[in-house]
Amino acid sequence: MIQRFGVSIDDTLLEKFDRFIEKRGYVSRSEAIRDLIRDALIESSIEENPRSEVFGTITMIYDHEVRGITEKITHLQHQYIGEIRSAVHVHVDERNCLEVVIFHGKAKKMKELVDKLSAMKGVKNVRFVFTKVEP
Ligand code: NI
Repeated sequence: MIQRFGVSIDDTLLEKFDRFIEKRGYVSRSEAIRDLIRDALIESSIEENPRSEVFGTITMIYDHEVRGITEKITHLQHQYIGEIRSAVHVHVDERNCLEVVIFHGKAKKMKELVDKLSAMKGVKNVRFVFTKVEP
């Protein structure tokens, strides 16, 4: 069953929200609000239950000319052999590489991997997204 509810919001915030949903390509406010609610629920369930199973992607940029970095990243990924399903590597320019890792496992382990990658010298930017099959 679909429920409707009213939201009180001031003009400025609503204008900002409308610009945001336009940029993101949503066709309606309802669609955007549903997605934001889903994301918030997934995040909070992961915080409450770090042992929950998640799927996630980790995207990072790193400078492959930093000494030993390629070996360190490969070595780290082998430590998560049970969780890493796939990794894609793209050479961005003469120095930089983009790598996207697809992860399936405990949320806690994924956070741990993200932290280790972020702390590595030469790794410039690590972004991650995780999601669950439910809800
Ligand atoms: Ni490369």
